[in-house]
Amino acid sequence: VPVLTIERVEHAVPLARALVKGGVRTLEVTLRTPAAVDAAKAIIAEVPDAIVGVGTILTAADLARAEALGAKFGISPGATPELLKAAAASSLPFAPGIATASELMAALAHGFEVVKFFPAESSGGIKALRALAGPFPQARFCPTGGIGEANAAAWLAEPNVIAVGGSWLCPPAEIRSGNWSGITAICERSMKSLKGAPR
Ligand code: 3PG
Repeated sequence: VPVLTIERVEHAVPLARALVKGGVRTLEVTLRTPAAVDAAKAIIAEVPDAIVGVGTILTAADLARAEALGAKFGISPGATPELLKAAAASSLPFAPGIATASELMAALAHGFEVVKFFPAESSGGIKALRALAGPFPQARFCPTGGIGEANAAAWLAEPNVIAVGGSWLCPPAEIRSGNWSGITAICERSMKSLKGAPR
């Protein structure tokens, strides 16, 4: 899942088309820029093959914004009590972010068994994820933070990992320079190598 930081709304549609062309259809548009909401709306309107989620959901208001713009899912880097409560009451598929056992317990208590493990590499990496699998066999993870071409396959080989996310598929410099064919090439290369990887 590419974690997209879109600074200019006019980048949104060509960027999404480049990702889809490279075989990457599930996109996370982060609420990190003033252009994010309009960017997500534009992709939803103009790139029907993209499955658009909204990331960097920090508050109940962000969650409501994601729902209102037509996101298919929401992702957060964390799991505050306020956000978990709002997400449990909402029908938007949602993955809270966790890095500790207690955060995971809070997420599970609200019914969220699919969570983002963030920041994955600096929170102990695959070793930490394996340790969490013991007490929490029902939990499924989408690790992000520090994942790229070199280690994505190793993460995906873990039985409790259902997806990985990261910005390596859409480097900010390539977005800024409008290097859409370069982004398609990164996606094609990654998807090809991950398809051959053990699961
Ligand atoms: C995220 O929000 O998931 C991270 O910022 C992505 O991390 P990365 O840039 O290390 O891939």
